[in-house]
This record gives sequence, C-alpha cells and structure tokens, in this order.
Amino acid sequence: MTEVSRLLKAFIMSLGFKKQLHLKSLMTKQLELNDYKQQIADVYNRRSHNYDESEWHLRIAHRLVEYAQINPGYDVLDIATGTGHVAIEAAQRVRASGRIVGVDISTQMLSVARRKVEALNLSNVELQLADAEALNFPSNSFDRILCANAFPLMSDMEATLRQWMRFLKPNGLVGFHALADTALVGVVIWQKIFEKYGVLQQLSEPTGTVEKCHNLLERAGFKSIEIKTEQYGNYISLEEAKQRWTISSYPAPKFSNTLFQLSSEQLEHIKAEFDAQLEALVTEHGIWNDGTSFFAFGRKGD
Ligand SMILES: C[S@@+](CC[C@H](N)C(=O)[O-])C[C@H]1O[C@@H](n2cnc3c(N)ncnc32)[C@H](O)[C@@H]1O
Repeated sequence: MTEVSRLLKAFIMSLGFKKQLHLKSLMTKQLELNDYKQQIADVYNRRSHNYDESEWHLRIAHRLVEYAQINPGYDVLDIATGTGHVAIEAAQRVRASGRIVGVDISTQMLSVARRKVEALNLSNVELQLADAEALNFPSNSFDRILCANAFPLMSDMEATLRQWMRFLKPNGLVGFHALADTALVGVVIWQKIFEKYGVLQQLSEPTGTVEKCHNLLERAGFKSIEIKTEQYGNYISLEEAKQRWTISSYPAPKFSNTLFQLSSEQLEHIKAEFDAQLEALVTEHGIWNDGTSFFAFGRKGD
C-alpha cells in the first residue's frame, strides 16, 4: 500500500470511528486500579444512585462549562465525567459537528451518565471507563479538557496536567474546579485536628489558593492562566456540620495510614474535639460553611 492510500485509509477509518462513537460506551474494558483509586471508584459506585440530587455539583459543573467558552464543532474531553454533568452541557454547545468524550473510573457513575445521554438522544457523546491519570489519546485531540469536582482527587496533579496538555490542540484550554483551603467547615476543622495527631501528610491542597492554582498550571507549562473565584458557601446547622465527620473515612491520596491505626478511644477523643470546635462556630444563622471555589484555566501554546 502506498503512503497516500495508507493515509487515505486512516482518514476514512477515522471518519467511520467518529460516526460510531456516538452513544457508544466503551465500558467493557476492565481497569487496573491501585487501592486508592479503587476506593474512590467504590465510593462513587455507591453514590451513583443519588449523586444527581446534589445541586452543588451541577452548579459547579455548569459554571465550568460556561467559563470554558465552548463553540460548535469543538472536541471536548470531560475528565471524571461522573454522571455526565459537564459532558451533557458541553454536548449541547458543540452541537452535532463536535464531540464529547467523558472518562471516569466508576462504572456505576458512567451507567447513570449513559442513561441520561441516551434519554436526551445526544449522538455526540462517548463515555469511557478510564483513569484520568493514565489516558491514551493521540496528541492534539481536544479543544477543551475540563474537570469539575474531581481534580483534587488526582494523585499527581502536575504530572496529570502535563499529560492532558499533550491531548490538547494548540491554543486549547484546560479548565478545572478546585476548592479553597478555607472551604467546607467540616474539612477545615477535621484537617486541623488530624494534623495535630500526625494523620495528614500535607495540610492544604496544591490547589487551595488562587496562587497555588496559578503556580500549578504554570509549572505544568500552561500559558494565559486565569483563575476565577466564586463563593458557593451557605449556613448549615450544627447537626449537619457534625455529620461531616464521616468525611474522615473518605479516601484521599494525602492521608497516611496513621488514621487507620488510631484506636477507637483515640478516634472518640478526636471526634469530641471536632464537635466542640464546631459548637464554638455557631451563630444565629447557623455555621458558615465556606464554599470558595476556583475555576482555573490555562492554555496550551501555539
Ligand atoms: C464528585 S464526582 C464529579 C463528577 C462530575 N465531574 C461532576 O462534576 O458532577 C468525582 C468523580 O471523579 C471520578 N474520578 C476520581 N478519580 C478519577 C480518576 N483518576 N480517573 C477518572 N475518574 C476519576 C469519580 O469516579 C467520580 O465519578
């Protein structure tokens, strides 16, 4: 086969592929996940049936899409698509001439996403079971790569961003959402207390301030960096705040095993300290649950 016919064949096959990927979910593939990622997948598999009850996640996802300036015809990669909030919103913006690929490690979250995509008859969305930190797309594939409500779950954020940059077309935009170090009162108090007991290896997120988000994107090689800050906080009752304790059983790459080595007496003691600190924060409106959010964007160069 000559070089020209080989290229022609590849081109024709790629057209066929583009048509076929509509509505097709490549979910038969098995993933090999480390313990941390398997725990995350398990958490979201369990949460998938009522995940869409959370208005917070939907609002954040839609805001990220709004900021990303998505035009008809764009190719968009939705990282950690979950139940497809970003993918579905973006699919409506890119119209039939564009395409969306959504990836996630939770089969159950993807099933919910697939049902929604089918119900809406969106023919330009493909859902894949894949680890966002080990993707294998050709270079220069996407105009936008977005990650809502999941970026801080990545084990190595800088390396992951570098990898995503390779998948972006020249001048393409990456965008992620992250919470400030001050966000979520339960987490803030919980972190302070656990640090005292040596449970946390690292107190704040590498994305916990505007400066940190900026530096992270810069170190990963992105240009024209822009970070938008918005407040998604609200007042919550003392009772609700106390329930946030359960987050201590949530998997995160920075928790050392120390947490699991504490005795039940020690854990009870820590829980009492947690409750006491929350009680001290009660106002006439309840407890302020900060929700400072960053929408961070960076461009790949030309
Ligand atoms: C809070 S949900 C966010 C879902 C969606 N982006 C949204 O905004 O509603 C977090 C999602 O990240 C996924 N996730 C976490 N780590 C991942 C990874 N390494 N690769 C792919 N998906 C991942 C989880 O399975 C889960 O569906």
